[in-house]
Formats: sequence, C-alpha cells, structure tokens
Amino acid sequence: MNYLNGKQILLGVTGGIAAYKSAELVRQLRQSGAEVRVVMTAAACEFITPLTLQALSGNPVHVDLLDPDAEAAMGHIELARWADALLVAPATANFLARLVAGRAEDLLAAVCLACEAPVAVAPAMNRAMWTNTATVENIATLQSRHITVLGPADGSQACGETGPGRMLEAVELADGLSALFQTGVLAGRQVLVTAGPTREAIDPVRFLSNHSSGRMGFAVAAAAAEAGASVTLISGPVSLDTPPGVHRIDVESATDMYAAVMQAVTTADIFIGVAAVADYRPVTVAKQKLKKQAAEVSLQLQRNPDILAAVAALPDAPYTVGFAAETESVENNAQLKRQAKGIDMIAANQVGNGLGFNSEENALQVFWGAGEQQLAVTAKQKLARQLTEMIATQFQQGLHQGKVLKFNAKDST
Ligand code: C5P
Repeated sequence: MNYLNGKQILLGVTGGIAAYKSAELVRQLRQSGAEVRVVMTAAACEFITPLTLQALSGNPVHVDLLDPDAEAAMGHIELARWADALLVAPATANFLARLVAGRAEDLLAAVCLACEAPVAVAPAMNRAMWTNTATVENIATLQSRHITVLGPADGSQACGETGPGRMLEAVELADGLSALFQTGVLAGRQVLVTAGPTREAIDPVRFLSNHSSGRMGFAVAAAAAEAGASVTLISGPVSLDTPPGVHRIDVESATDMYAAVMQAVTTADIFIGVAAVADYRPVTVAKQKLKKQAAEVSLQLQRNPDILAAVAALPDAPYTVGFAAETESVENNAQLKRQAKGIDMIAANQVGNGLGFNSEENALQVFWGAGEQQLAVTAKQKLARQLTEMIATQFQQGLHQGKVLKFNAKDST
C-alpha cells in the first residue's frame, strides 16, 4: 500500500557516488504523491547539482546551515518540523558516524538532530567500509535509536568490487519509506469515522450546509488506516479522494449519515465523529423549486439527531471520540460537550484566525476522562496521526483495565 500520498518527505543527500540515484528517488517519491524537499551536504553537491534536485523536487534545495537568507526562508528547525519523515539517501559511512555522534555542524546533521518525525537512512559505501566494525556498531546504535536502516543491497559496486553496500533502488526506498507510516497501533481494530458537512434540502436545488471541507475527517480516516485499522468513512459531500485502504460511504443529509452510522457502528471498536453535522433541517422539503415571491420568507427547522451522542448511548458503544469547534472558552465548552454527549474523548479547536474549517492546518486540545493533551498547530494530516496515537493509547488502556470503555456521565473527572 502506498502511504506516501500527501506526505511531506525531507530527503537528505550525502556525498557518495550513489547520489546520482537520488534524482530518480525524488521522481519516485513525487510520483507516489509526496511533497519533497531536499537537503544536501557540501560533498553531495560534488556528485550531483542542487539544480537537478531542485528541478525534480519543485522546491529550493537546502545546503547551508549558516546562510542567513536560507535560514530566514526555512531554517533547520522549520525543515525538521515540516517533515512527516526524513530519509538520508545515500547515507555515507562518514554521515552515519556523524549521526551516531549527534553532530550538528552542517545543515543535514542539524536537521536530523532536530527531527521528531521518523528517520530512515539508506547506506551506500564500499563493501569493506560497510562490514567494518565501526560501521557495524554505528548501524546498531542507530537502530537502537529507532532509526530505520533501508538496505544496503548486495552486488557490483562503483569501486569495481562486489558485495554489500549498494544503495537500494528508488522503488525499494519509496516502499521502505511508505512502511514507516504503518504504525500498527490499531492493527485488527474496526474504526468508523464521519467527515465533511451535511446538506439539508430546502427544495430540489437548494440546501442548508456549512464550510466543512472534510479534510480533518479524511486525514483521521487515513491515519487510522495507516495505523492498521479497518476503516469505514461516512462522508458528506466533499471533493476529496478516498484515502488508500479506506471503505467510503457517501451520504448527503444528517439523517442519511445517522442511518449509515447506525448500520456500520455495530462492528466498530472506535467511532470518531469529525463531521460538521447540520444541527437543523427544514421541516418540509418542497417537491418543486420554490419561487421567488415575498420579500421575506421564513423556514421552519427541526433538530437533527445527534449522531455522536446516539452512538455513545448504545448499550455496547465503541470508544467514542468527538470534535468540538469553539469560538471561545474552548476547554470549558469542550469538557461540557464531552459530558453532555457521554463520549470518551473530545478534540477541541478554536475556529477563526485562519484555523479550523477549510484550512490546511489546525491545532487541537484533546480531553478524556483522566487527562488532556495539547497538539500544536500543524498540518491536519500530521495532527490526525498524533490524535490517532492518542486514541489508540487510551483505547488500549481501557481494554487493559478491562473496564467498560464508554465515558460514564456520572464521572465528573
Ligand atoms: O454539538 P456540536 O455540533 O458542537 O458537536 C460536535 C461533535 O458532535 C462532532 O464530533 C460532530 O461530528 C458531532 N455531531 C454529531 N451529530 C450532530 C451534531 C454533532 O455527530 N447532529
């Protein structure tokens, strides 16, 4: 499965002959749907020009740590934060040793040190250098720090020798990188997600709706699938592609969504309500298009079912997670909402200031029975992965405690 679509991949290129293969790697990553930024060491620039990698990646290539202009545009910390994953390919013996030592005297080493996203290296060197005890020990150290080592392959080498030390091919590296996103924390679980707005028909051509783009819900569904869950996504009308491996059911109105959720929820371990469900719908839907007549008209509305609360109230309810878009008193309103709806966890965000609806980024404050955690402003995809980890942790803790998972309305913690 390709999990690179939409991912932000930082590619580090160090100074080995295999650097020429990095050009193909950039193409491969972009073909898989990833956005790619490249950081090169000075030695790498001796093997392949930054211009080549800039043209292929579509982004400026970063080389200098102490260049004030480059730092002002996107410094080493911003690059490290930007990355969903960092791959160093090729990684020379020298660079691996510097990584082990935690050096930060050049841009790539500094970015590696600052990066909290998953890091992988693709070693490439002469076979004797690869089998040297120094390198063997360096690789073991990196693996003990959860750095993934991709390859090397065995075969003929640029130096004329034959043996282990060839950098993996671009396709193999892209596959290895994609696998970094398969965390497996929800392996074997069934997750049901709602996303997008709903449309409440007024007549055959008009409806009431809202600005929800569906991005957050789709990102949550994608993150749950990457985490190994079997995911069903019930979505209102949006213009987004279905994430890989996700089973999608399209609906229009809140009542359609309610019916689809109630049917699918029976097998769900976890329900995540991200949809911006319309609170009201017109009492009657005109059969024909309403004509323009009076200067003022009024529309009579009735409450829609609260899907999240209905799921949480089921006798064998799954672990339920809701979202709360708030314009003020975020914590207070979110906690009240969590208790009123009887749900296990709520992810709250302040809407406005360019965040929330229809934006690429968001920030969340997440509350559950015994705790809370703040997730800083970042891309919705990254936020969705962080939230999925939290949901998996709380879900597992509930299972280990062997308790009924559902939040108890009497629980005032
Ligand atoms: O009450 P409010 O709309 O602020 O609650 C937001 C949360 O409740 C979201 O998780 C949303 O998906 C869910 N919700 C729902 N059905 C409704 C209204 C909201 O599932 N009718």
